[in-house]
Amino acid sequence: MASPYLSADIANNYLPQRTHYWYARCKLASDLLYTGVGEALLDTHAPLLDLGCGIGLLAHTLRGQGYTGEYFGVDNDAEKIVAARAAAARAQFPDVRFDCIDLAREAFPAHRGSVTLLDLLQFLPRDAAHGLIDRVAECIAPGARLVIRTGLDQAGARMHFTRAIDTLARAVGWMNTAAYWYPSRDELATVLARRGLRATFAPLSGMLPFNNWLVVAQRT
Ligand SMILES: C[S@@+](CC[C@H](N)C(=O)[O-])C[C@H]1O[C@@H](n2cnc3c(N)ncnc32)[C@H](O)[C@@H]1O
Repeated sequence: MASPYLSADIANNYLPQRTHYWYARCKLASDLLYTGVGEALLDTHAPLLDLGCGIGLLAHTLRGQGYTGEYFGVDNDAEKIVAARAAAARAQFPDVRFDCIDLAREAFPAHRGSVTLLDLLQFLPRDAAHGLIDRVAECIAPGARLVIRTGLDQAGARMHFTRAIDTLARAVGWMNTAAYWYPSRDELATVLARRGLRATFAPLSGMLPFNNWLVVAQRT
């Protein structure tokens, strides 16, 4: 599906930071994540809490896809939050804000609506990730969604590649922590079901050799 936003327009909001500009261009051109999340949230405009938001690309793509709900992005990387705030200000988005919070140690603010956990779970210790999912599940309003993108603990070349890229991201300093673990499909479905959420799992690798899955959960 053609993306409903222009990657170059979004990337321009990250200038004069050329690293973030080129990251946005490459990421938006190659990763189905953002259109996938937009589609998952198509019929809801409930406020969205984006945990591990990075430089806040999702806020830009969602606005491009017509999502009008409030957006609150949280990350523990202070530099990314500065970049996210600057880009959102440049785009003149109303109802978009960001804060620096370490989700392994601190609680996120009270929230009711949808939540996204995109490529975050593996960077939290397993117990912390389970605890986070438990708390997040309580925030999901009827009709709202919990959207998770994660690798699943499976055998094969895709998982090897996913682990290798997470290791590389840490080594070059793009990530401030290494990956601890990857959930299995059963494990994730069980944790979500325990909190009253029914999940669908769909592969989201596109042309890329990652082991990427989009998990969309709703209250039963
Ligand atoms: C691979 S990036 C994904 C960024 C964004 N979700 C996206 O998909 O465009 C993972 C993000 O999780 C953040 N992160 C890792 N550990 C975290 C923690 N303990 N608390 C908050 N954010 C964390 C990193 O700083 C990074 O921005």
